[in-house]
Amino acid sequence: MQIIDGKSLAQEIQESVAQEVKNLKDNYDIVPGLAVILVGDDPASQAYVKMKAKACEKVGFYSITHNMPDTISQEEIIGTIEMINKNPRIDGILVQLPLPKHIDTNAILEVIDPAKDVDGFHPYNVGRLVTNLDGFVPCTPLGVMKMFEKYNIDLEGKDVCVVGASNIVGKPMAALLLNANATVTVTHIYTKDLASHTKKADIVIVGVGVPHLIKADMVKDGAVLIDIGINRIEDGSLVGDADFEALKQKCSYITPVPGGVGPMTIAMLLSNTLKAAKARISK
Ligand code: GUN
Repeated sequence: MQIIDGKSLAQEIQESVAQEVKNLKDNYDIVPGLAVILVGDDPASQAYVKMKAKACEKVGFYSITHNMPDTISQEEIIGTIEMINKNPRIDGILVQLPLPKHIDTNAILEVIDPAKDVDGFHPYNVGRLVTNLDGFVPCTPLGVMKMFEKYNIDLEGKDVCVVGASNIVGKPMAALLLNANATVTVTHIYTKDLASHTKKADIVIVGVGVPHLIKADMVKDGAVLIDIGINRIEDGSLVGDADFEALKQKCSYITPVPGGVGPMTIAMLLSNTLKAAKARISK
């Protein structure tokens, strides 16, 4: 069994982004800029946004966070995004999700300039991903693909089960895997017999937010297990969607929580923002 060390891979990527930021500044006087919109006071979202801002600072990006109360109207959020779309210092726009219930998330995401859509959630970029064209790819699934690459985990012809069909994780993950010639099964809350699907898979990728949903008897010997979940349980500790302790002996590769996919999401946000900033060179 090998543990996939997301933390050290993310560190490696951050260092290379920092080097490229230096080159951009020295050669073109470009400083990549990221704007984050945070609505409301959800502690988890606040923590994520703080981590993202800190990572930006570390690699030399310019970053601003727009904190908005959860009473804000949809029109006001849209107005802010339209303003940021026009700001030449900002290359990437990220609206932290989830948004309060009175806000139409899709309507918000559609206002983001697709060229600044570093989360890859705009329908334009979703379409480009599905058709295997270059564009912005959502950070978490992109981070998982980087892990496969780093650990030489071949995807061609593999049976992959993606547990969870969210727009943020499951659906873009499935599209990336299809583009890499894997045979993909996507399960969700209406799936009748989850274990029957996970048991057949060479690779299981889970991101649903249910602590220890995937148990040892639900995967085959030697499977690869990628755990995207991060859940705080009663004792205050963080656990994934898979029972890591029980699964680690059985799997050929497994990601820990924390220290697995989480740091990769942030590294990919930096990488996507850098990519957006590089587009300024040819302007
Ligand atoms: N909420 C949970 N994951 C994400 C993410 O990757 N991006 C944004 N913007 N919000 C999230």
